[in-house]
Amino acid sequence: MSRRILISGGAGFVGSHLADGLLGAGHEVRVLDALNTQVHPNGPPAYLSPDVELMTGDVRDPNCLKQALRGVDVVFHFAACVGVGQSMYEISRYMSVNTGGTAELLQAILDNKSALDKLIVASSMSIYGEGRYYCSACDKAAAPPVRTTAQLKAGQWDLRCEHCGTVLEPRPTDESKPSEINSFYALSKRDQEEMCLIFGRTYGLPVTALRFFNIYGTRQALSNPYTGVAAIFASRLLNGQAPLVFEDGEQMRDFVSVHDIVRANMLAMERPESDGEVINIGSGNPVSILQVAQMLAGSLNSSIAPVVTRKYRAGDIRHCYADLTKARALLGYAPKVTHEEGFSELAAWLSKQQAEDRAETMLKELSAYGLTA
Ligand code: UD1
Repeated sequence: MSRRILISGGAGFVGSHLADGLLGAGHEVRVLDALNTQVHPNGPPAYLSPDVELMTGDVRDPNCLKQALRGVDVVFHFAACVGVGQSMYEISRYMSVNTGGTAELLQAILDNKSALDKLIVASSMSIYGEGRYYCSACDKAAAPPVRTTAQLKAGQWDLRCEHCGTVLEPRPTDESKPSEINSFYALSKRDQEEMCLIFGRTYGLPVTALRFFNIYGTRQALSNPYTGVAAIFASRLLNGQAPLVFEDGEQMRDFVSVHDIVRANMLAMERPESDGEVINIGSGNPVSILQVAQMLAGSLNSSIAPVVTRKYRAGDIRHCYADLTKARALLGYAPKVTHEEGFSELAAWLSKQQAEDRAETMLKELSAYGLTA
C-alpha cells in the first residue's frame, strides 16, 4: 500500500537515504528541512532525489508544520542537531531545535487533526550514558555511572568495578538499561523520545522510538565538524592528515551502516508489533575507535597511522553497543552490511568528494569552552 510520508530533517544524511528507500518501495515522500548551513552550506543537496517534495522550513514553525503535515499518513521525525560535543556549548540551540521542535511537531499534529497512522522518532543510544558492563573478577553484571571530569582529566579512561577495582568489560546494552544523561544532546534525544511516546499513548497514535547507535555512510555532512567520527577520520586521511583519536582509542562504539538503518525504519513503519516501543538499532558488533581509523586507512590504501591524543571530549561515554534481541523479535531486523563493506563504501564515496577537514575547527571550539584537555 502506497503511503504519503513526511520526513522532518529529510535532506540530511539519514533522512535522505530513508527517502530513497521509501520512494523505491512506492511511497510518496515529502521532506521538511531547514537546510541548516552547518550541514548544507550550498543549499539543497544534489543527492536528494528529484522525486522528493522538498519544503524548506523550520520544524519549530507551526505554519511550516501545518503545510508539511497536510495529507500525510506517516511521519519520520529526524530533524535534529546531532553533535554531542557541540551540544555542550550550544545548549539553547540544541534544546530549542530538538526538544522545542518536537513539541511544535506534536502540537501541530494535534491542532491540525492530522490523521496519522504512525510516527517514528529518531532517538539515540546516547540516552543510556554508559552501556552495560561485566566484572570478570566478581562474575557480576555492572552498570557504572558516567565518568567524572576529574577522572577524564586524570586520563582514567576505563570504568572499574566498584567492589574490586578490576577494569569492567562492555556487554550488549538492552533497552531496559536505565537512562543516564551525560550531554545536552542526550537530554534532548530523551525528550524527543518521551514526548512522542506520551503523545502516542494519550491520543492513540502508534509511535515507535528507534535508538540509533553510531550511523555511518555516504552523505555524512563533511562541512559539519561534528559529523560522525568515521567521516571525520576518512576526511583527514584523504587530506594527508592523521586521524586524531580521543582518549586511548580503545573506546568502543556500535557502528551501523545507514542502509541497515533504512531497513529498520521501514520495518518499524510496517510492523504494528513496534507500536509504543523503544527499540535499539545498531550492528550489535562493537569496534574500537582505533580500529575504525585503521579500517578506514585500509579502505583508502593509506599508510597514515592515527594519532592517539589522550585528550577527552566532554560528554563522551567509554563503551556502548547494542543488544538487538528486541529489534530481531519485534521488527525481524538483522543488520546486513559488514563493517568492511560499509567502510569501503564510505571511503569510496569520500574519495570522490571535496573532503573538507574540519577536525581542527572542532578542537578549537571545544577547547575555547574547556570541553577538551
Ligand atoms: C554519534 C552521533 C549522534 C548519535 C550517537 C549515537 C554524530 C555527529 N553524532 O555520537 O547523533 O546519537 O552517535 O551513538 O554522528 N572521536 C575521536 N576523534 C574525533 C571525533 C570523535 O576520537 O575526531 C571519538 C569520540 O571521542 C567518541 C567516538 O569517537 O569516543 C564517537 O564520536 P562521534 O562519532 O562524535 O559519535 P557519538 O558522540 O557517539
